[in-house]
Amino acid sequence: MKVLMVCLGNICRSPLAEGILQNNLGETYFVDSAGTLDYHKGKGPDERSVLVAKQNGIDISKQKSRPISSEDLDKFDYIFCMDHNNYEDVLAMAKNEQHRGKIHLYLEFAECGKKDVPDPYYGDLNGFKDVYQLLNDASKVVAKKLINS
Ligand code: 4NP
Repeated sequence: MKVLMVCLGNICRSPLAEGILQNNLGETYFVDSAGTLDYHKGKGPDERSVLVAKQNGIDISKQKSRPISSEDLDKFDYIFCMDHNNYEDVLAMAKNEQHRGKIHLYLEFAECGKKDVPDPYYGDLNGFKDVYQLLNDASKVVAKKLINS
């Protein structure tokens, strides 16, 4: 089973989402992340995401930002988007119903009563801590759903 987490820059939210879900699912699942922008291609995650992950025992420092490609829609079984804009952008890349069926808003799939993971990029470390908590709660539900599917 292959799972792709998607945000805008692939340096703040989706690297955290990848690290947390991979930690919940274990190594039999392949979890990756990508951005709808290619602006940060090749860069490691934002140091604030690296820090909050590390404070929770997760190492995301070796990840590298990359833009989502049309092949990802064939390759991955689930594509989880961090917010509505990412969702609309990925949906616009879908070429068929099979692609469309894989694309979900992460928090909606997690049934946690919220829709968007807020973009913490222009804020302070507290925003990254809030994003971590949101993703951590969501990933527990999502991991259970995927393992039972
Ligand atoms: P992310 O955050 O989508 O969670 O990785 C952002 C990172 C970079 C930018 C925006 C959001 N940016 O405008 O460069």
